[in-house]
Amino acid sequence: MIKLIKGFHDILPDESIKWRHIIKSAKIVLDRFGFREIITPVMEKTELFVRGIGQATDIIEKEMYTFEDKGGEYLSLRPEATAGVLRAVVEQSLLRREPLLKLYTIGPMFRRERPSKGRFRQFFQINAEVLGDDSPYIDAEVISAAYAIMTEVGALGLMMEINSVGCAECRPVYRQHLRNYFSKYMDGLCSDCQRRYTTNPLRILDCKVPDCVQIGKKAPLVTDSLDESCKDHFNEVQETLELLNIPFNVEPRMVRGLEYYTRTAFEIVHDDLGKSKAVGGGGRYDRLLRELGGPDQSGIGFGIGIERLAMGLPDEGRYSRSIDYYIACITDSGRDLAIKLTNDLRTAGYSADMRYTTTSLKSQMKTADKLGAIKVIMIGEEELANCEVTIRDMESKEQVSVPIDELINRLQGDEA
Ligand code: HAM
Repeated sequence: MIKLIKGFHDILPDESIKWRHIIKSAKIVLDRFGFREIITPVMEKTELFVRGIGQATDIIEKEMYTFEDKGGEYLSLRPEATAGVLRAVVEQSLLRREPLLKLYTIGPMFRRERPSKGRFRQFFQINAEVLGDDSPYIDAEVISAAYAIMTEVGALGLMMEINSVGCAECRPVYRQHLRNYFSKYMDGLCSDCQRRYTTNPLRILDCKVPDCVQIGKKAPLVTDSLDESCKDHFNEVQETLELLNIPFNVEPRMVRGLEYYTRTAFEIVHDDLGKSKAVGGGGRYDRLLRELGGPDQSGIGFGIGIERLAMGLPDEGRYSRSIDYYIACITDSGRDLAIKLTNDLRTAGYSADMRYTTTSLKSQMKTADKLGAIKVIMIGEEELANCEVTIRDMESKEQVSVPIDELINRLQGDEA
């Protein structure tokens, strides 16, 4: 038997029904907020991600699936969606046509992380980006869109954490404060963090190694290093979130794993997920478009992990399987009629199913139950002799007989 690649997973039908609910809910919300869908390739030139996400990140240092193709070009499976979406925006000059762009994309991402609960090497994201406005009101709008997706999906026990990671002017000051602080504890840091000290000390705050977490607890806070305009921006984001009734906590130690963020950063977290507690995350990026060859415009967006969101949803209830009709054919002579009827019901817009092997009524009722049939249409000797079918309501157990040639009209009439 050939097995799955480590860290990759199948989404089986009992689970994919939840996914369908999540994706449908997300699309409803994103439509309400004026987003339109963009679909970009799952593979891009490696350089795009290196430039976009930043060299000194875990993703670029160790997690990308990169290979040299037969033409000698380095390509990578996308570890996230933002860089690819922005590449398309720049390449197709989309901002020229629409100065405020709201785009979303849903699909698989790939990171060669160590697999654990809620952490996979292929995972799916709902990803949204707004480009062309740097006002704090847009930040609040984007955060409220992420929150509205969670509400529409029915996810419980989630918390919104927000922070400001500063801008190109004040971040170097903060970086220096961090270096001054961590220089006193170099021996206690893990080897990755000793390297991060030079390359990107903010990443030390995101390390999960217990000693580093302990040392990081007393590190200076980014919010104490923000310049006046970043402070004002962050205050305005918070005031607008309050106006919108979005519950949030300011989490001054939250840094994001990608380098492109400036000012607002946020995460939606769930404590049940342990170390991989973020169900979603995002933030503002004021230089990324320019770095990818585009106009000097800013953006903000988020990614929500579908696996992690699905893990927080209950299995029962609205995700359980159901069909409108199960056609129980109890006699071989009724098979043609059952086949035709199943097709007529489907054509009329109902979900309907049957089994071609004729078995007892008892075993067919079991099948109907398994499929979650709301009604069962029975075709037996007696029904055939009378040119009718018997319809059984599976919940109330009520049964009615209906002439075959009136069936579809009658069913549609019942619905009207
Ligand atoms: P991210 O925080 O790296 O952000 O990922 C967003 C979400 O994707 C996470 O909160 C998590 O739910 C899910 N995720 C990430 N890695 C894994 C994994 N290995 N297994 C399962 N789920 C995972 C980004 O990707 C940014 N591009 C978001 C963004 C868009 N920022 C601005 N625009």
